[in-house]
Amino acid sequence: MKALILSGGRGTRLRPITHTSAKQLVPVANKPILFYAIEAIKNAGITDIGIIVGDTHAEIRKACGDGAQWGVKITYIPQDAPLGLAHAVKISEEFMAGESFVMYLGDNLVKDGITTLVDEFRGQGYNAQILLAHVKNPTDFGVAELDGGRVVHLVEKPKEPKTDLALVGVYMFDASIFKAVNSIQPSARGELEITDAIQYLIDNGYKVHSHVIASWWKDTGKLEDMLEANRIVLDGLEALCEGDVDDDSSLLGKVHVAKGARIVNSVVRGPAIIGENTLVENAYIGPFTSVYYGCTIKNCEIEHSIVLERSEIVDLGTRVEDSLIGKNVKVGSTTRKPKAYRFMLGDNSEVSVIQ
Ligand code: G1P
Repeated sequence: MKALILSGGRGTRLRPITHTSAKQLVPVANKPILFYAIEAIKNAGITDIGIIVGDTHAEIRKACGDGAQWGVKITYIPQDAPLGLAHAVKISEEFMAGESFVMYLGDNLVKDGITTLVDEFRGQGYNAQILLAHVKNPTDFGVAELDGGRVVHLVEKPKEPKTDLALVGVYMFDASIFKAVNSIQPSARGELEITDAIQYLIDNGYKVHSHVIASWWKDTGKLEDMLEANRIVLDGLEALCEGDVDDDSSLLGKVHVAKGARIVNSVVRGPAIIGENTLVENAYIGPFTSVYYGCTIKNCEIEHSIVLERSEIVDLGTRVEDSLIGKNVKVGSTTRKPKAYRFMLGDNSEVSVIQ
């Protein structure tokens, strides 16, 4: 069995972060989301992985290389334009060479991995296996209708969903999916939808098995979802201190301080993770915060947030919360007159100031 990870896509819902970076490389608990997918696939015993890449291919290749860091073999499959998930399957036909495969959307996170699901698919001789999860916002997903446990109908982002069962971004297929993706037409949004391809399998008598998963799953397309994913993963963290913590500081609960990080006269209340060579000084880091490597957090308080590499948050009078701060960002204060906010924000940035 092989695997196909989809790591193209423009990540429009995470702008401005995704103006300059791939959404699949945004870290959750200081590890790129994409790496969780690769690990889950490896843990399921699959080592031959194709990654579909688009505009951000250089960054993805740099981060994942040939896969040796996980003991897997990665082949990159370029997709000229984001023409849909079924289009991604279509262009991977040669790579799959007739084998069954797991398709994993690179911005999805399945907390308990996929090993038992892959084993179930392997043993049963299904043509396809889809995973479903109950969600509060089914209009944002592909939605399934079941008849006594059997999937009868799948609709992509329905305006009036008939159920709350969303398609999780992990699918298992045998080679019959290629017949399906080559038979369907683009949807109204101009994409070849995987939902339509699976519907084709259902309509043409192929065996499509569905599995409602109980474990936590997230499509990390939006800020709130990223923060939730970060919360869930940090919750499972073990306390570990590899950096320097001075006597005036305290680490409370599950806190991971990476190598080269320095905590000076500060309180870090877990679950939280402080990345390599990050300095935390005269600061409070609250629960559910991930600060990546090479950052400076000084004279300020931050909680329930994700800070990407080499950013500085310094001298703020008010606590930062619920935030995603990009790479190399500087947030600070000044005594310069006139007393005013001074911003240089990327396109689609969002700022809330206190009144
Ligand atoms: C895609 C699929 C959708 C599925 C979702 C899961 O949507 O088209 O059927 O429910 O992934 O993450 P997208 O997130 O690309 O809009």
